[in-house]
Amino acid sequence: MVSKTSDVADFYDEMAKDDDYDKFWAYDKALYDQIHPILVAHIGRIRNVASEILDVGCGTGAQTSILCKKGFKSVYGIDISKGLLRICSTRTRMLNHRPLLLNSDVSALPFRDRTFDHIVCFYNVLNHVPQYAFAIEEMYRVLKTEGYMLLEIEKVSMSDLFYGGLDILFGGRLEYEITLPEWLQQLRRPFSTVIARWSYQTKQVKYLRFSPKDVEKICRRAGFRILRKYGISILSGMIPWGLLKTESEFSRSFSSLLRNIDRRISDIPFLRNMGLNTVYVMKKGDVK
Ligand SMILES: C[S@@+](CC[C@H](N)C(=O)[O-])C[C@H]1O[C@@H](n2cnc3c(N)ncnc32)[C@H](O)[C@@H]1O
Repeated sequence: MVSKTSDVADFYDEMAKDDDYDKFWAYDKALYDQIHPILVAHIGRIRNVASEILDVGCGTGAQTSILCKKGFKSVYGIDISKGLLRICSTRTRMLNHRPLLLNSDVSALPFRDRTFDHIVCFYNVLNHVPQYAFAIEEMYRVLKTEGYMLLEIEKVSMSDLFYGGLDILFGGRLEYEITLPEWLQQLRRPFSTVIARWSYQTKQVKYLRFSPKDVEKICRRAGFRILRKYGISILSGMIPWGLLKTESEFSRSFSSLLRNIDRRISDIPFLRNMGLNTVYVMKKGDVK
């Protein structure tokens, strides 16, 4: 079973107490280096700085800050973790345009229908939501007609399945945190939504890794038109996670080289469906 929303909040609140929250997320930079240029490119096309933009699962504000720095005057951030929202508030304090932050669950957004011009939901937020189909409908509901939604998800991946198996053989040295029964289950259904987990000290959170087809079907059913897809971590996803995470000079240069290549190939048509994550650019149509 995937973690309940209250347990997810508890997990992130615990992490937020850590003085060096960012250091823990070794993968952040690798992912941000790829997904933030996509965000910047798309919001760069929005001319109206009065647009109302919602950052769903804003956490410490990695994307919220980008939106505020771009000059948008009405940026909202919601998150279920009060601890992360506090960090976000501190980090955005000095900006000219500060975001409005709310402690809320994406499955029950405290906004009226068609409030926002655009929505951003980046870095595994949806993967944490047990009722993710409902969350997609909620985001659709609060988005204005013709509004854009930028959504990032983590997917099931064959390379992770392969390294997960090796990890079990090597007693967890590759840090895939997978048990034999979980791996066997994934082997039986390699392209379906699976449960994965993250650990932090004594806490653990179980989340979903999606089958993209499943998510795309739900988005279309909600009324979204998928305009564009980007494959994220296409090459770096083929290297065992534990190796890229090490602090050695070699690992850092290698990982940065892969990220640079990944950034350039994310939009190539036959590669878009590959990688560990996908970014979708979607639009709310006028008819559901
Ligand atoms: C990996 S963090 C990413 C945060 C931020 N978007 C970023 O890129 O740094 C995932 C975020 O999703 C939030 N989250 C998880 N479940 C949520 C829910 N049901 N409603 C709102 N936020 C949620 C978590 O609290 C966490 O801040």
